[in-house]
Amino acid sequence: MRNVCLSILSAAAVFGLTAVSMVNADVPPASNIPAYTADGGLQPQPLANYRTWIFLSSGVDMRYSKEGSAMSSSVFDNVFVNPEAYQAFLETGTWPEQTMLVLEVRQGTSKGSINQHGSYQNDSKLGLEVHVKDSKRFPSTGWAFFDVAENGSGRLLPMTEDCYSCHRDHAAVDTTFVQFYPTLLGLAEKKGTLSAAYRAEQAAPAKK
Ligand code: HEC
Repeated sequence: MRNVCLSILSAAAVFGLTAVSMVNADVPPASNIPAYTADGGLQPQPLANYRTWIFLSSGVDMRYSKEGSAMSSSVFDNVFVNPEAYQAFLETGTWPEQTMLVLEVRQGTSKGSINQHGSYQNDSKLGLEVHVKDSKRFPSTGWAFFDVAENGSGRLLPMTEDCYSCHRDHAAVDTTFVQFYPTLLGLAEKKGTLSAAYRAEQAAPAKK
């Protein structure tokens, strides 16, 4: 584990050096590798930079059960991924080790400034969750979910939470919901990386 981390870090250092020489020093490091706290949580760095990562998609009022709920305003979610993992996905159609995917949940507003119709996102962040691929650390699932508090540190969610079962049973690529990330789905199709569960789900209505 330690050796793996060290070799990744040295590769990151070389990569980081070229990036830093081209841009100013305030720009986040070119490599984003998950780091853990002593009690198994996720450290705030490099998560603090997620807003500079690659944007995959937004969902509006997405719900996973048929019952409606009476919400007075919309809720948006935004999905980001660290740029290194995105680059690897473009080449392979799946996520490499150390991938970090962030789900940011934001409150919607419809009245404000010049807006007359529709909703936009406001600055009220309702939640932040992270999906981390680290098969050495999480051998049973390959991935783990963390709930990020306001202070930026992530609490590991137990494997018994329904996060794990829904993502495992319904997500299109390696327990991630690529079917909702429009620029990645076609790529995964071409590379043949769609999960068996997702392919079966897609084929099911045709049989009826
Ligand atoms: C019933 C299904 C379901 C459950 C349960 C669920 N999710 Fe998800 N999750 C989704 C869907 C659908 C998306 C895609 C969202 C979008 O398109 O904006 C998603 C996306 C995500 C993402 C973005 C990265 C990815 O893997 O695609 C994270 C992070 C995430 N969920 C965390 C969680 C956490 C943490 C929990 C448990 C507390 C959880 N989810 C429970 C369906 C689910």
